[in-house]
Amino acid sequence: MPVKIRQIGPCFAGEVDGIDMRKPLTPDEVAAIHAGMDEYAVLVFHDQRITKEQQVAFTESLGELEYAIGSSLRAPEDHRLPNVFADVSNLDKNEKPFKYDDRRRLFAIGNRLWHSDSSFKATPAKYSLLYCLSVASKGGNTEFADMRAAYDTLDEERKALIEDLVCEHSQMFSRAQLGFTEFTEEERERFKPVLQTLVRTHPSTGRKSLYLSSHAGSILGWPIPEARFLLRDLTEHATQRKFVYSHKWTVGDLVMWDNRRTMHRVRPYPAEDVRDMRRTTLKAEGPTVRQQAA
Ligand SMILES: [Fe+2]
Repeated sequence: MPVKIRQIGPCFAGEVDGIDMRKPLTPDEVAAIHAGMDEYAVLVFHDQRITKEQQVAFTESLGELEYAIGSSLRAPEDHRLPNVFADVSNLDKNEKPFKYDDRRRLFAIGNRLWHSDSSFKATPAKYSLLYCLSVASKGGNTEFADMRAAYDTLDEERKALIEDLVCEHSQMFSRAQLGFTEFTEEERERFKPVLQTLVRTHPSTGRKSLYLSSHAGSILGWPIPEARFLLRDLTEHATQRKFVYSHKWTVGDLVMWDNRRTMHRVRPYPAEDVRDMRRTTLKAEGPTVRQQAA
């Protein structure tokens, strides 16, 4: 069956028919998915019943895997999934929801802020592929914002102002916005900021987009309040409803998005519900800017 993509919601989300992730992809299917990602930035695949191995194989056929090492507060012995997955569930290794005041749950509340995956890594994420195994009784939608439209609708003065700006990103900055500021020395070292440009040019389409994320906490050469205000103001602009697609999950959905030109956030859901999601991730081409020597 040929791959078909139908637009859903705002113009940057599409629904895909004709892909069965249990089977290896043909070269034509790989090309159709990449073309679809270039045209849209979010693709939704329904009714996939895939094992962990099938999700990894599907992801690998589209590019180089990013491993989830050292990016959460789960201790190595607490991992529920192999580290090729980012565990986006609210479950501990015994498949039970984290307690309300569990530090790992509170840290994960950071995912409710608008962000781009792995913007806190020198080489950030290209595509994220999030697979849904169970849904919460209410809430838990994932919302996406189109950062190309956000960039295009800035006035020329703003575009000129931000063209060459470089930001520092760290998970400590996003958590600090929620008052989560207590980190061990080891975590502070692991979550040290990296640099990212504020404007990105997409390698295959040549289009510019805003590269924002709640992990961004400073702009090189700017006083902190000026920097934080600009980042907040740009985020407010970028996440107007007209730029947002909200995905309501059904078990078996896999949603793939391009972190280079979208932001996303999860909406709240009851802490006691089981929300089982697993994410595989592809690495971007390389850093957006040269990192400073430590
Ligand atoms: Fe995310």
